[in-house]
Parts: sequence; C-alpha cells; structure tokens
Amino acid sequence: MTSAPFTKRKILVTSALPYANGPIHLGHILEHIQTDIWVRFQKMRGHDCHYVCADDTHGTPVMLRAEKEGITPDELVARMQQEHLRDFQGFLIGYDNYYTTNSPENKTLSEGIYNALKANGKIAVRTISQLYDPEKNMFLPDRFVKGECPKCGAKDQYGDSCESCGATYSPTELKYPYSAVSGATPVMRDSEHYFFKLGECADFLKDWTRGESTLADGRKQVHLQTESLNKMNEWIEGGLADWDISRDAPYFGFPIPGTNGEKFFYVWLDAPIGYMASFMNLCERSGLDFNSYFGKDSDAELYHFIGKDILYFHALFWPATLHFSGYRTPTGVFAHGFVTVDGHKMSKSRGTFINAEVYLKHLSPEYLRYYFAAKLNNRIEDIDLSLDDFVARVNSDLVGKFINIASRAAGFISKRFDGKLASALNDTSLLDKLQSAAEEIASHYESRDYAKATRDIMALADLANQFVDERKPWDLAKQEGAEAELHQVCTTALNLFRLIAIYLKPVLPTLAERIASFLNVPELAWQDSQQLLLGHQIQPYQHLMTRIDKKQIDSMIEENKQGMEAPAAAPAAPTVEPLADTVTIDDFAKVDLRIALIVNAEHVDGAAKLLKLTLDVGEGKHRTVFSGIKAWYDPAKLVGKHTVMIANLAPRKMKFGLSEGMVLAASGTEDNGGVFLMEPHEGAKPGMRIR
Ligand code: MSP
Ligand code: ZN
Repeated sequence: MTSAPFTKRKILVTSALPYANGPIHLGHILEHIQTDIWVRFQKMRGHDCHYVCADDTHGTPVMLRAEKEGITPDELVARMQQEHLRDFQGFLIGYDNYYTTNSPENKTLSEGIYNALKANGKIAVRTISQLYDPEKNMFLPDRFVKGECPKCGAKDQYGDSCESCGATYSPTELKYPYSAVSGATPVMRDSEHYFFKLGECADFLKDWTRGESTLADGRKQVHLQTESLNKMNEWIEGGLADWDISRDAPYFGFPIPGTNGEKFFYVWLDAPIGYMASFMNLCERSGLDFNSYFGKDSDAELYHFIGKDILYFHALFWPATLHFSGYRTPTGVFAHGFVTVDGHKMSKSRGTFINAEVYLKHLSPEYLRYYFAAKLNNRIEDIDLSLDDFVARVNSDLVGKFINIASRAAGFISKRFDGKLASALNDTSLLDKLQSAAEEIASHYESRDYAKATRDIMALADLANQFVDERKPWDLAKQEGAEAELHQVCTTALNLFRLIAIYLKPVLPTLAERIASFLNVPELAWQDSQQLLLGHQIQPYQHLMTRIDKKQIDSMIEENKQGMEAPAAAPAAPTVEPLADTVTIDDFAKVDLRIALIVNAEHVDGAAKLLKLTLDVGEGKHRTVFSGIKAWYDPAKLVGKHTVMIANLAPRKMKFGLSEGMVLAASGTEDNGGVFLMEPHEGAKPGMRIR
C-alpha cells in the first residue's frame, strides 16, 4: 500500500462547557462522545491532539442555587465539577484537561481580552432600562421573570418565550409579570451596560464565516458547515446588534476592570474564554506552549464541537472576540443536532430526560457510544435514541457480528495450538481487503461521518462472518488431517477480528483495550492495521461483551423518572389560614366597604414596604392611605385602577403621615405567591358601598 507522507498535525479540540447548575444528561453525552471519538481517532493516527473542557460556572442561576442551598457559589461549582467529571469519565471521555471557568487563568485571560477590545475601540457604554426586582434588589435575567404570555395568555411563562404557544417576546411584554426570585412585581430601572460593538465586525464576520483554513497537510477546512453558514449569513444580513457583555451586581462572575466591582462580565463572555483557560492550565502542567496554539500566527488547528443552539455564540461572537483582541480564530466550529428519545424531545415526565449517572447504573457506556456513532454524521440533524432500535442494533452489530468473530475462532487456538497463531497464511485475500479499507474508514472519521465509518466496518464484519460460516472451523476440528487448515482459518478469523477492533477503537476504547490484552499486543494504533499478527502467542479468550436485555432499559427509565425533581416552579400545597370566628350580619354591617379609585400611588421616602395611595371614595375630597404593598406593585401601574377600601376605619397616625383607611388585598399565611389587591368588576364607581 502506498500512502502519503505523514504530516504530524497540532490539534486542539473542545466540547461545549456544560453549565454548573445542572446534572449531565444524554444530550451532553452525545456531544462529548462525538468529540471524544474524533480526538481518539486523531491520537490513534499519531497526531498531537489535545482535548480540553470545563464547567461553565458563572451567572445568576448558580448564584441563586448556592444561596438556596446555603453554600457559597464556589462550594457549589466545586461539587458540580466533580459530579460532571465522574459522569463523563463513566462514558470514557478522555479529556486532557477538565477545568472550570471560575479559575485564575480565565480571570486573567478575560480581563486581557476585554482590555484589548477596549483599546481597539470595540467597547461602548450605554444606559439601558431593564426589569428589576425591588425586593431582592437585583436585575432580573429574562428567565427569572414570569407572567402571562402576551400572545395566548398562558400563565407562568418565562420572560423570553411561551412554552404553551411558542411565542418569543421580551420580558417587558409579559402580562402580570412577577419575579421568579421573590414574587415581587418587577419595575423598570436604568443601568449602564458595556457592549461589544459587534455591528462593526460585520465585514470581518462575513469573510470569516465563509472562509476556510489550510491545514498543515495541505487540505482545506471550511470554518462552518453549510447549514451553519446559511444561518449566520441570515443573521449578518439582518444586521448585527452590539452585544451586551456586562451584568450588574449581585452576580457570580468576574468583575469588569475599572467598575468598582459594580459590573461583571456576562457569563457568555468568559465561557468560551474558558476553552483557552483550560488549555492554558494544561500548558502550565505539561510544558505545552500556549502561544503556539492561540497566537495570531498559530499553525495549530482549533475545533469546537457544539450543539446547534449555541451557534450564534461560537460562529459570530467568539471569532470576533478572538480576532479583535489579537488572537487566532477557530479552524472549524462543528455543530450537531439534539438528542430525541423515541422520536420526542427528551422529557422529564416521560423519564426520557436521561441522566448520565442513571444510565451508567444500568448499562455499559460503550453501547451508547456505538449507537450514537452509528447515527452521527457531519450535518446538524437531531439524533434519535430509539430504545428498541438501540437494543437491537447493539446486540446484532456488536455482539452478533463483531464479538462473534473472535468467540468462534479463539477456543480452537488455545485448545489445539497452545494459544499460538499460524506463522504464515496461504490465502490473505480477505485480509487484504480489510486492510485496504483503512484509509476510506479513516476519511469518514476525519470528516465526522461516523455513521458511514461504522456502516463500512460492519460490512467488513459481515464478510468476516461469512468467511467463518463457509470455512466451518467446528467441522474442520472434527476432521482427520485438517489441522493445518483449522489453524489457518482461525488465525485468519482472529486477524479479521483484530482489524475491525482497530477500526472501532475510537468508538469502543475499553473494549479495544481488552481485545489488545486478549491478543497479547500493545495498545492498538491505526497503522497496526497494515500488518498481520502471525506466529504470535495470544491469551485465552475471555468473554468480551454481553447483550443488552430490554429489562435493563425499562429499569433505567423507571429510575430516571423517580430521580426527576419536581419542577422548580410547582408551588408546594398551599396552606390555608383557618377560618375566623363566626360573625352576625350586623357585625358585618359595621364595616363600611367602599369602591375607591386610585388617583395616585407613589413610593414613600424611607419606607421599605409602604406605598402611599391617594384614593377617591366619591366624597368630593381625597383620602390618603398607606399600604404595605410596595414589594408587589409598581405604583405607576396602580394609578387609574379601582379597588376596595374600609372607609370607616379609625384614622391612624403613622411615621409618614395620617392613614385614612385601608385597602383590601388577598394574601396567604406565608409568602406563597404574593399580595393581590381587590379589584371590582367593570362598572363599579367610586363611593359605591359593598354589602
Ligand atoms: N454553558 C453553555 C455552553 C458554553 S460553551 C463556551 C451551554 N451549556 S449547556 O449545558 O446548556 O449545554 C452544553 C452543550 O450540550 C451544548 O452544546 C448544547 O447544545 C448541548 N446539549 C444540551 N442539550 C442537548 C440535547 N438534548 N441534545 C444534544 N445536545 C444538547 O450551553
Ligand atoms: Zn403563549
């Protein structure tokens, strides 16, 4: 076989950094398996390939969750990082470094990049108006504002989109908005924000998104898949808005230099920089040269494997951030689709939002590595984990086709030939065929078309099985004088098996290790496929892989269902206040309830809980009432509304003035959902009595 001269490539690869506020599920696992297969393939080919990842730690959700658990954010992210790494290792993901974005390296790099962007005139400061939680004293990210969908009226929808009708909108459009943190009605508040002037990067991005890089071996690599490129072009043509990269305190993140600790980098600024930081940390430990990977003139390849939902960040913001702060840009951004289970979006209630830890309690990681590999190509298509198909495919391909080759030949070698393979073969035509498939299979791995790679490999396994079926070693074993042929057939079969094991090794790393020790050879490398194993002593055959039993799937889904926490938004069973003592109709008549028009409502200087209301009760003069509803109502929104007041309550002198009555509001015994002012049906006029 002739092959091109070997050029050693320098490659750095990443998977997206999982958020530290949740557990690892099969969606993450798909991405890390896809990346890991590619990395293992490159390493097997003899390239210098490094794979780094980290937890994405910053932002409001981590801050609030830590608060709720009564621990510091640092404690929370340390625990999550351990759990995440444990799960990924369980799926045999072979990072060279798994780090955290909450690291000194990331802080230094983020500040440096920000300063460079600023020096290049790419940072703008502007005042924006945003929803603010007046009780919790913080600005509210879209996901922390809830209310009624402005389109369909569904209740309890998030501030960015409606799960009921799919509408997207801005949080200020929600009807009856409330803070998901405190329940308070949010108010609008101004704040200075820092923007990355993405609008000025359009020309650069037009070129970059369409561009390609020339690799060390002379091949070209396009930066984006066609589908991504089309999407990005739509966005660029639609006009790029400047990108808000700051958040106000309180925030878990890195303070922006020069802002007195009042402003922080938005998590999406420092998250991708976390790729660099994780690699820098690896460099510190291993002596690799950071600059030769990230410097402007780097000859290394840089690839990011991501899901389709975060393309915008990786194909626009990230290359622009790198370019305008003086670093190299990615060689390729590889996006994949989403995992579905039995044709549906992963669902918590169906138990198909499968948790990585739960999967591993019931099933071997290599089953799923193989199944995902068999379905993955280099396009952005969703990947369906069909549970029945999963069982059938793994059992028939891996156990029925692949492992079967060895189990049918190995026994004869140990029993009849003292564990030694024949030292020469009369007919190597089938082996030649498998050996010459190496480059074609390699090209499928290289282009991330693992579905094609596994299909080709399984076609070779079919040929190997046919060979064994035709040559019938079990018959030869019983025939007089067929000893030499039996030795040849079994030696051929085990060599076929070995070649297939080499080709599958990026997908099945621990199985490949067990096969290497059974064959009594060092770690399998891709080039080993070009030699045969002859006259070689092997180990006795030991069971290599068991079939999946459908029951394992059922118990996994069952456990997964149970493990799902109740959705955070579901309120606890309401506690209802016990009823007060019985009163007579005469008792009730003593209370004079009137319809009141809210003429004015305002905050009271120095009062933490009170609003000052000016009411018209039809008396020809106004009344002043102080009401403890500040946390729940934006005064501006009350003006012009009708409510109910007790008009004959003895006036009460308060620190802030005289209160001439009381407005009526509903509330629970404890803080379970807020305070709600009474409002009459339409038509009621100020001064009308309620009886
Ligand atoms: N923290 C960000 C990424 C920052 S990268 C600098 C994030 N985290 S995530 O935990 O929400 O998602 C991590 C990766 O998992 C993303 O690439 C995302 O697309 C992928 N997946 C999350 N759910 C998925 C599926 N159901 N299916 C496949 N991948 C999905 O985004
Ligand atoms: Zn809706």
